[in-house]
Amino acid sequence: MTKPHLLTFETYDDWDVAPMEAEYTVIRMPESGKVADLPADIVPQITAVAFKGHSSLGAEIIDALPNLGMIANYGVGFDTIDVAHASTKGIKVSNTPDVLTDDVADLAVGMVIAQSRGIVGASAWIRSGNWARNGAYPLQTKVSGKKVGIVGLGRIGRAVADRLVPFRMDIHYYARSAKDTPGWTHHEDIVALATAVDILVVCLSGGPDTVGMVGKEAIEALGPEGLLVNASRGTTIDEAALLGALERGMLGAAASDVFLNEPKIDSRFMMLENILLQPHQSSGTVETRKVMGQLQRDNLAAFFANEPLLTPVN
Ligand code: 8YV
Repeated sequence: MTKPHLLTFETYDDWDVAPMEAEYTVIRMPESGKVADLPADIVPQITAVAFKGHSSLGAEIIDALPNLGMIANYGVGFDTIDVAHASTKGIKVSNTPDVLTDDVADLAVGMVIAQSRGIVGASAWIRSGNWARNGAYPLQTKVSGKKVGIVGLGRIGRAVADRLVPFRMDIHYYARSAKDTPGWTHHEDIVALATAVDILVVCLSGGPDTVGMVGKEAIEALGPEGLLVNASRGTTIDEAALLGALERGMLGAAASDVFLNEPKIDSRFMMLENILLQPHQSSGTVETRKVMGQLQRDNLAAFFANEPLLTPVN
C-alpha cells in the first residue's frame, strides 16, 4: 500500500521523524512560507500537514495545497493557523492541549521565583568575581505570601494558580466570567487586576481576540515594585509599552518566554537588566515534547482512519 504524503514544517526530533516516516511519505519544509517551492507533482498528493506553530499557516498557504484535509499542530496554541479559513474548506485542525500544561506552569512559576529572587543575576554575581570582591548580592524580593494576578484562567492559568497556593499567595484572576475557584478573587478588568496585585502572570491564549490585552495602563498599574510574567504569546502584551515601562522604571521587573517576531526579538530587550528572557521553551522538556509528538501523530492517524480527532480545534 502506498503511504499518504505528509508535509511537515520546521524540524522534528529523531523520535518523531522515525514513526512519521514509518507511516507516511514525509515531505519536509523548513517553514510554511516555502510552500511555493514544492514540486508541482507533489502538491496534489499532500492531504495532511504536521505543523509547528512558529511560522504562519495562513489562507494563501492553505489554498496552495488543494487536497489538504488535515492540519495537525504540534502545540496547544494555534494562533498562527488560519483556522477559520481551514474550516470553510472542511480542513480539520488538531492541537496538543493538556500534555504540556505542567511544563508551561512550572516554567511560569520558575520565572516568578527566579526574577523575584534574582537567581540568574546572583549566579552571574559569583562568576564575575563580585561575591569575592564586593561581598553579598543585593537584597531581593520575597515570593511567599504575595498577591498574584493570573490573566486568563484556562488550563494553564489554573495550573499556575494551583502551584502558587502552597506559597500562601492571595490569588486574583482576570477571566471573562467568574470561575468556580477556591476563594480566588475575580476581576472583570485587567487594569483593576494589575492594581490589586504584586505579580501578574499572563496565561492568555494567542490570536486576534487577545492582541495587546495587557496594555500600558495595566503595566503601569502594576508599578515600579511589580513583576510581570508572560507565559502566553508575545501578542497578548503591548510590547512597546512593556519595553518603555521597563526602561523608565515604571514597571519593576518582567520575565517572558514569548515575544513578537521570535526568534529575532526587539534588540531593546537585550539592553534591559530588569527582564528575564526565555527562548519560548515552556513546553521544551524531552518528556513533554515526546508526548506532544505522539498526540500529533495520533490525531493524524485518526484523520487517515476516518475517525474523530483526539483533540480537535474546529
Ligand atoms: C510550541 C507552544 O508549540 O504549545 C504551544 O502553544 O507555544 C509551544 O509548545 C513549541 O515550541 C513547539 O513548536
